Amino acid sequence: MDRKESDAYLRLDLARLPQHIAIIMDGNGRWARRRHLPRIAGHRAGVAAVRSTVETAARIGIPALTLYAFSEENWKKRPKSEVDFLMRLLCHYLKAEIKTLNGNNIRLRYIGRQHELPAVVQREMAEASEATAANTGMILTLALNYSARSEIVDAFRSLAEAASRNGGLDHLEVTEESISQNLYTRDLPDPDLVVRTSGEMRLSNFLLWQLAYAEIYVTQTLWPDFRGLQLLEGIEEYQKRERRYGGLVHDQTSGREHIKPRVHAQVKG
Ligand code: FPP
Repeated sequence: MDRKESDAYLRLDLARLPQHIAIIMDGNGRWARRRHLPRIAGHRAGVAAVRSTVETAARIGIPALTLYAFSEENWKKRPKSEVDFLMRLLCHYLKAEIKTLNGNNIRLRYIGRQHELPAVVQREMAEASEATAANTGMILTLALNYSARSEIVDAFRSLAEAASRNGGLDHLEVTEESISQNLYTRDLPDPDLVVRTSGEMRLSNFLLWQLAYAEIYVTQTLWPDFRGLQLLEGIEEYQKRERRYGGLVHDQTSGREHIKPRVHAQVKG
């Protein structure tokens, strides 16, 4: 950690770190345009931001970090040349980072419709996650070909299929718990903090169910300029917020604190 990062770290309350941080990495194209470079140069520069953010999160003891790398929409709506470049960049990242992920005790996982990705990418993904499967520290989840609405559709389909295998509709149990248990993120607690770079104020179809109570932190920093320091600044901002989960924070009649607690799932598996 450099001086600025260690100062930011010292300002944090380590007892109240977010248990799961989700990041919408945005602004690679604008970063490149400002430098009169092709968009892919922004994506390439974005890898250094991924590396720094992941290492800082693991070192300060964040249990789970989820990065929105490609949405289903990115995959379907961007020019083939850009998508191909992103796929090659991802494969390169997966190969090159295994050592660093293992050095930081990080487990790598994915969410999204993986089966729609090119076979070669799926193979690299499987190899990288297997190579880190025995680690016991932070869970790093890459959202690849991910769409929150597709995730919810998949969850309802698997609930319906389970009911049909188990005696039909009478056995269909639809509760918050059963839906959560059929999402791709079933082993993770809901994010406490969602960070979006480049100033946009949208969730862009990312973890719509899971972000119900998350604190939202938007920074103007473009993704390729984001580093561990900016992550620590986001956590500092998160720690200044009052989280209410729909309850009252301050009871004006008694003057007592009334935080309606919400049970947080622990990171599993
Ligand atoms: C959004 O910027 C970024 C992406 C769609 C791709 C994210 C990919 C990386 C950060 C690099 C590779 C990732 C991994 C995990 C190795 P944009 O292109 O939408 O930017 P713009 O809004 O400025 O055009």
